[in-house]
Amino acid sequence: MLRGASSGRPESPHIQNLQHPDICAGYMIIKTLELTNYRRFRSQAFEFPQNLIGFIGRNGAGKSTVIEAIAWALYGTRATRGVKSDIRSQQASDREACEVVLHFELSGVEYRVMRKLRGKSAVAEAAVWQAGIDEPLAVQEQGVSAFIEDLLGLDYRSFFASVFARQKDLAALASMQPEERRKTINRLINIDAVDRARWLAGEKRKQLQAELSGMNAMLKKPEDLEEQQRELQQQVDFESKAVASAQKTLDGSLKKLLAAREELEKLTAIRDKHHQLSAESGKLLAEEAGLQRSLREVKAELAKIDKSEKTLQSMQGVKEKFQQCRERKNVLEDLRLKAGRKKELVETLRYYREQRAAENRPIARLEQEIAEYELQASRLSQLETEMKKLEQEQQSVQKALDALRARRAGVESTGKDLRKKFERIRELGKDSPCPVCTRPLAEHYGPVTAHFEQEVRAMREQYKKLSQDLSRGEIRLEELKHALGEKQKEREKLLGALAVIEQKRKQLDDARKRIEHYQSKEKGAETELNELGDFEFDEADYAAVKEEYERLAKMNEHVIQLETQVAVKDEKVQQLQELSKALGLKRDEIETCNKAIADLGYDEKAYEAAREQHEARNNVVEEHRQTLTEASKAKIAAETKLQSVERELKELRENLARMESLRDDLLYYQALDEHFKLFRQHLSGRLRPLIAARASELLRLTTSGRYSLLELDEDYGIAIVDQGDTFPLARFSGGEQDLANLCLRIAISQVVAERSGRQPVQCIVLDEVFGSQDAQRQSLILDALNRLQTQFRQIFIISHVEQIKDILPVIYEITMVDEFESRAQIV
Ligand SMILES: Nc1ncnc2c1ncn2[C@@H]1O[C@H](COP(=O)(O)OP(=O)(O)OP(=O)(O)O)[C@@H](O)[C@H]1O
Ligand SMILES: [Mg+2]
Repeated sequence: MLRGASSGRPESPHIQNLQHPDICAGYMIIKTLELTNYRRFRSQAFEFPQNLIGFIGRNGAGKSTVIEAIAWALYGTRATRGVKSDIRSQQASDREACEVVLHFELSGVEYRVMRKLRGKSAVAEAAVWQAGIDEPLAVQEQGVSAFIEDLLGLDYRSFFASVFARQKDLAALASMQPEERRKTINRLINIDAVDRARWLAGEKRKQLQAELSGMNAMLKKPEDLEEQQRELQQQVDFESKAVASAQKTLDGSLKKLLAAREELEKLTAIRDKHHQLSAESGKLLAEEAGLQRSLREVKAELAKIDKSEKTLQSMQGVKEKFQQCRERKNVLEDLRLKAGRKKELVETLRYYREQRAAENRPIARLEQEIAEYELQASRLSQLETEMKKLEQEQQSVQKALDALRARRAGVESTGKDLRKKFERIRELGKDSPCPVCTRPLAEHYGPVTAHFEQEVRAMREQYKKLSQDLSRGEIRLEELKHALGEKQKEREKLLGALAVIEQKRKQLDDARKRIEHYQSKEKGAETELNELGDFEFDEADYAAVKEEYERLAKMNEHVIQLETQVAVKDEKVQQLQELSKALGLKRDEIETCNKAIADLGYDEKAYEAAREQHEARNNVVEEHRQTLTEASKAKIAAETKLQSVERELKELRENLARMESLRDDLLYYQALDEHFKLFRQHLSGRLRPLIAARASELLRLTTSGRYSLLELDEDYGIAIVDQGDTFPLARFSGGEQDLANLCLRIAISQVVAERSGRQPVQCIVLDEVFGSQDAQRQSLILDALNRLQTQFRQIFIISHVEQIKDILPVIYEITMVDEFESRAQIV
């Protein structure tokens, strides 16, 4: 809980009047502040009494942070240092929100403001509530800021000017150039708002002047335009009359043209009919000429036919003669063909006989050769029987030899065995075991050895005999092989002879076939010759008949031609009659047509005259039409000009009216500028002495009357009266200079607080303002501030100067828990 004036510490003379029972009508008091993940504070609550409240702690502990959090709650991010994303505690995760809740009281009504940053991208939330009302009065960043500005009647800039003397503010103010300082202080006390308004009014005035002078330069006299308008109206009237007169003339000429056109159309119709009849007559005449031509042609053809008839009579009998001669000629031509064929056949017969004789000649020789070869070939089967026999013998000899060899090998091995046993018995002598009963031979040794010797001899004999049989057999086998070889050679020779026989036989066959073929050909020719039989044919006779035939053929042809011509005689006579009749009719038609032309009474000259008159009248109409068009154009041109002048006149009148209003505006803005100027003079004339008076009072209090008068020049440069003389600030000590600047800054806050806002904000924050002051001075400053409590109910003092602990009734000590976190507690 808070420690009030009645805490355990010794009472300070500076805090006697801290509790104010008399609460004035409007005031603002900050009651509590809760921070969650706000910069170095992870979770921290503050309660603030109406008092002097101190914050102490090492550099970087988070003293200014507490004050900044209050500003953030009220005015949002623009009231903080750096960017929004840096506000959340460095130790907090993205999921942990950064939050500030501020409770304050204004004229007895309690409010609660909340601001929050959520999520990775630090989404801002805000709301403000009034005690006793559930629904928030405003939400969202801008909404809450606007509500607070309205509620306190202080915008964010004025709030900082009056409530906060921020760290470094004093040093900055002192080190500024005069011009800059003047601007800054004017901004703090809001005189620059008047400057801005005056500037805006000036701009507007300049703009009006420019517009007016621009309009003036282009302005015409209305009388001139009115004169022009009158003249143009006269011209329009005149042109209208001209148009009416031209229209009348045109109407008259059009009437005449119509009459001429009627006459011309009548004559044109007659002319067209005349042309049509003339064309018809021409056509009829041409047809008549055609008919006459045909008539002439038919007559000529009839004359020709008469002549042909006569010639025909003179040529009687030609046809019969030609017929007879043709028959004779055909007979002779048949004979001629037969004679030719007979000659061919005789020739063919001779040829085949010769061929046959030639084929016959080698046949006997071939037959003899074949007989000889066949004789040889007949030996083949005998030879093959002999060879078979020899082969059989060879096989049996071979078999016998194999048996002998086996037997001899058997004898050889048995012999070897026997010899071995015998040698062993001889080596062992009588101790040798019996080969049958295995007991020692003893007395049987003699007979046994004799038996063995006999056996061995018999074996040798047998072996020898078998060897002799074997060599005999082998000799026989060789003989057989040789004999078979010889036979084989002979057989091959005989097989060659057989192939030759085959070949010869084929030759013989072929020759015989050809002979047969020739014989059949001969027979055919002989048969045909017989069929032709005997006949006579004379070539000279035939030539004479042929010549006669050709002569008669020509004559016959002529006769046929003439007969064809004569055949159409009747037809031609009828044609002649028809043509004569048609010609008569055509002539009648021509006469009728000519009569119609004469009846029409067409006059070329009269037509030409009518046409010319029509043309002349048409030209007159065209001329009059042209005149009318020109008159109309002139009228329209005059009307257009008139309209444009009327428009111009209307615009001019409007511009004059507008200029009148602009002039009024200009006068207004000129007056406004003047008023702003006077107002500003009045304001700064009043505010500067007021600030100087407040600062002088503070200076007097803090220096215990050593200095009691602080003067401010135009640029808020400070001068101090010392012992009746005025000196510029630079003449004083560093600590005195800082003090003077602090007094000035507090005086500004006082004046701003007095002048602005519906509800005076009765707190002030002084961040590190004791810098160079000694303990006594600090005490005096606090005392002076204490006296200011009629104006400032809460004074927040931030300092790393430990001694203020002993002076101030409420102290929050801020300590660093670790690298990233701090905590505050009342000491
Ligand atoms: N989001 C944050 N998380 C943790 N620390 C922060 C964060 N933002 C700022 N800081 C640190 O908080 C510290 C406190 O700054 P602050 O200005 O409040 O200190 P101060 O106590 O007023 O010090 P001085 O006496 O030097 O004026 C600084 O060191 C700063 O780097
Ligand atoms: Mg600080």
